[in-house]
Amino acid sequence: MARTHAAGRPRYRLRRVALTDLELLGKHRAGMWRDIGGRSERAIAGHLPAYRRWLRTAFARRRVTGFVAEDADGAPVASGLVWFQDAQPRPGELAPQAPYILSMYTEPAHRGHGLATQIVRALIALCRSRGYRRVTLHASEAGRPVYARLGFVPTREMRRFLSARTRSAARAPAVRRSR
Ligand SMILES: CC(C)(COP(=O)(O)OP(=O)(O)OC[C@H]1O[C@@H](n2cnc3c(N)ncnc32)[C@H](O)[C@@H]1OP(=O)(O)O)[C@@H](O)C(=O)NCCC(=O)NCCS
Repeated sequence: MARTHAAGRPRYRLRRVALTDLELLGKHRAGMWRDIGGRSERAIAGHLPAYRRWLRTAFARRRVTGFVAEDADGAPVASGLVWFQDAQPRPGELAPQAPYILSMYTEPAHRGHGLATQIVRALIALCRSRGYRRVTLHASEAGRPVYARLGFVPTREMRRFLSARTRSAARAPAVRRSR
């Protein structure tokens, strides 16, 4: 999958995530929130146990899968997941689940080599092979160009925060919420 090769070896390769990646996926999830900004270290660290518990259950129910990119030494350097969420039937779409891409993260030293692009492509292919007609995500500023190049378009989703604290955070123009 790599664009570049070192000494004839692919520089990176993709593999499917496994339950044994829980620690890594938590680390990448924390890195993602940290780089997106606007969340305290305490809030980021505080959500990790719940996130790993959620992942463990979702893996067991086959509701989450994804890909890990490894470098030539086998070290995991990027990852991304797709979650098959419960969905209501819509005209022309009766599938009980809808795929949602989340937790896209590439370690800083490995950015710009097309890893996120390759992971999203693989996730799209996976969703297509399962017969889904569309896939959704929320984009960070860094992720937006990657997704746009792969054909993602803005949607009509709206959001209303329900407490004064989150409402005033929502008004701050510099911070865009994403996951
Ligand atoms: C977004 C992210 C996953 C992209 O990973 P990547 O493996 O470098 O992605 P690719 O190599 O496939 O594509 C790189 C593109 O990302 C975009 N990009 C990366 N960092 C960016 C930044 N800080 N600001 C704006 N765009 C950025 C650029 O369009 C870049 O394209 P270019 O290399 O042609 O300039 C990575 O930057 C990251 O982990 N960021 C922090 C977490 C995050 O925002 N995750 C996405 C959540 S929706």
